[in-house]
Amino acid sequence: MKVIIQNLRKNIRCILILFILCGGWSLLVCFTNDKSKKYPRSTIVDSTQLIELGRYLFYDNRLSYNNTKSCASCHDQRFAFTDGYRKSIGIYGDKLNHNSLPLFNLESNFSFNWNEPEIIRVEDQLHIPLFNDAPKELGLKNHEAEILHRFCSDSSYVYLFLRAFPEKAFPINFNNIIKSLAAFCLSIKSYNSDNDKGILTINAQKGKTLFYSEKYNCNNCHSGPNFNQFIGAKRPEDNFQKFGFSETGNKFRIPSLRNLSFTSPYLHDGSAESLLDVLNDYENANRYRNFGQRDVQDSSILTIQTKLDNQMSMEDKMNIIAFLLSLNDTTFVNNPQYKNPFNY
Ligand code: HEC
Ligand code: HEC
Repeated sequence: MKVIIQNLRKNIRCILILFILCGGWSLLVCFTNDKSKKYPRSTIVDSTQLIELGRYLFYDNRLSYNNTKSCASCHDQRFAFTDGYRKSIGIYGDKLNHNSLPLFNLESNFSFNWNEPEIIRVEDQLHIPLFNDAPKELGLKNHEAEILHRFCSDSSYVYLFLRAFPEKAFPINFNNIIKSLAAFCLSIKSYNSDNDKGILTINAQKGKTLFYSEKYNCNNCHSGPNFNQFIGAKRPEDNFQKFGFSETGNKFRIPSLRNLSFTSPYLHDGSAESLLDVLNDYENANRYRNFGQRDVQDSSILTIQTKLDNQMSMEDKMNIIAFLLSLNDTTFVNNPQYKNPFNY
């Protein structure tokens, strides 16, 4: 009897060990099958097929409900992927809340959009232009099946999707559309300015010294390789600063200062037409504008503006602008890798 019980105990122990082992194994399988682990941001960036599919979709008007606009309508390569409007316009003429943001070097973004620190992946940003209701941008909400049908019935797209997602039998869905668009956006790079190459005119060099000087201290907010980070920033929120916008009191994300020649008008609301306008705002500390009038003094202003109050000589302004212009990258706005693949 004792032997039988001992054997039983041994057997139970064996079964238990087997169970734990199998459990551990199946957990492992679960983890390796996790889709989000399979497509981290870095893998998205590296896949040429994904980027190529994303480039087609980016330029395709069929990605808007009434076939009138694409991502490229508001993100035009000639304008460093902005659109030249103060505020962008959706497919039904809706005015968007903000000025279009340029698309380059997005890998260095802590977050996306002018005032949404919670959006930390490009993929999440893309739900807005695709499905937003008010204001409507591409207007796809509630028309998803119809839009997918457009791509399913085009054999070139079937080929592009199957190539980008070879392990899937039915790869044409919005998840994959978003993945490939994100891959294309993240592939757009611009690091070929005169400043990157160390070729500065005398004026640009003077402006650079002012930019990093104690008096102007532009670098306090516009630091890092893309001049869009608060010095020592660790969290997305650290990169949001008030620019003395008394109308809303909102803070806005510090924008990159690269490629400014192509991205006018400036600021979140497109209210500054020239770089001189922006510098005048910093100097005057009266950011509030109504139809081009600067008429309201704002008391809650960046410290920099208090320091600069009426102390910015025209010579300093011109030199700072010369430095800002040395951050333009003309090869990037002409780079064939980012051009419209349809050529229409
Ligand atoms: C109707 C104009 C419009 C369309 C269409 C549009 N965008 Fe945008 N995009 C904007 C505006 C405006 C912003 C800034 C939004 C904000 O901060 O409120 C923006 C922001 C972005 C950003 C964030 C950039 C950053 O640095 O934070 C990305 C990425 C982007 N758009 C990609 C796309 C893609 C891809 C598409 C196509 C699916 C697209 N956009 C369609 C106007 C548009
Ligand atoms: C305290 C942080 C801070 C400092 C210091 C600062 N900026 Fe800015 N800058 C911002 C923010 C935030 C915005 C966006 C504001 C908005 O859209 O309302 C901005 C916008 C800009 C823009 C417009 C860019 C665009 O694409 O719209 C330029 C140009 C600029 N800054 C240059 C400078 C220069 C030159 C200096 C130094 C004289 C400077 N900034 C100092 C935070 C700062």
